[in-house]
Amino acid sequence: MKRIEKWLAGADHQTVRVAETAVAAALEAGSIISKLYGNPHRIRMKGAIDLVTEADLAAEKAILAGLSREFPETAVLAEESSSDYTRIPSGPVWIIDPLDGTTNFAHGFPYFCVSIAYSIDRQTEFGVIYCPVLDELFWAGRASGAWLNGKRISVTETSVLLESLLATGFPYDIPGNLERIIAQLHKMLPQVRDLRRGGAAALDLAFVACGRLDGFWEVDLKPWDTAAGQLLVEEAGGVVTDFKGGAWTPYLPEILASNSRLHSQISRLL
Ligand code: IPD
Ligand code: CA
Ligand code: CA
Repeated sequence: MKRIEKWLAGADHQTVRVAETAVAAALEAGSIISKLYGNPHRIRMKGAIDLVTEADLAAEKAILAGLSREFPETAVLAEESSSDYTRIPSGPVWIIDPLDGTTNFAHGFPYFCVSIAYSIDRQTEFGVIYCPVLDELFWAGRASGAWLNGKRISVTETSVLLESLLATGFPYDIPGNLERIIAQLHKMLPQVRDLRRGGAAALDLAFVACGRLDGFWEVDLKPWDTAAGQLLVEEAGGVVTDFKGGAWTPYLPEILASNSRLHSQISRLL
């Protein structure tokens, strides 16, 4: 596996299998998404503003085929075909967002990615996020750092909120969350250098990990949005918690990720 060759050199057999399989699946999905990007899309509505396109479905199909070839026994949580986590799976599970940032993709706004996590008992052991437009492959293995295209990445050292660039996102259930979101923006905007709403939560987390953002929060996410990104942020030296600074797993809808130095300041405002 050329893209992560050097990193794999020091890894054990199981990590190599997991990483090679996940990265190959993410790259294949990315290439499918890229090919479809310039064409007109077949869009189906999952909710009033929640879209699914031919690219989400084709990418997920390819990812599932790739993962099940190597890991036929491993459970799967995948946004478009097996998204029920009312009973949280125990043991190993693949957590897949085949296309994070579908609204961006559908509108030709070039900020979207593929996200795949290999998790055991609610803890991500390996995560990969691939942004096809930038050809950027982010990955992280537990206790083996966070990487972007072969280089180790780390979070920023910003400790002054007014010097920070933060990002947030808006869930599909806007009416149910509107007051909370507006209250958070009201408090946050005057305290920071600027805010972004990129439109792809997994990529936002990867951007925190590589220091393009100092922090990210969102109120109502799903495990496939955050499972890989959490490990990236933590392995890059950042912190991921709930809004109050408490323990976090990908099954918790709210997330606050930061470079750690700003964490308590952001948490206080949320
Ligand atoms: C969405 C994106 C968006 C976030 C939404 C997510 P999708 O995922 O990550 O940035 O604000 O909450 O649902 O539907 O594009 O995979
Ligand atoms: Ca998503
Ligand atoms: Ca998605």
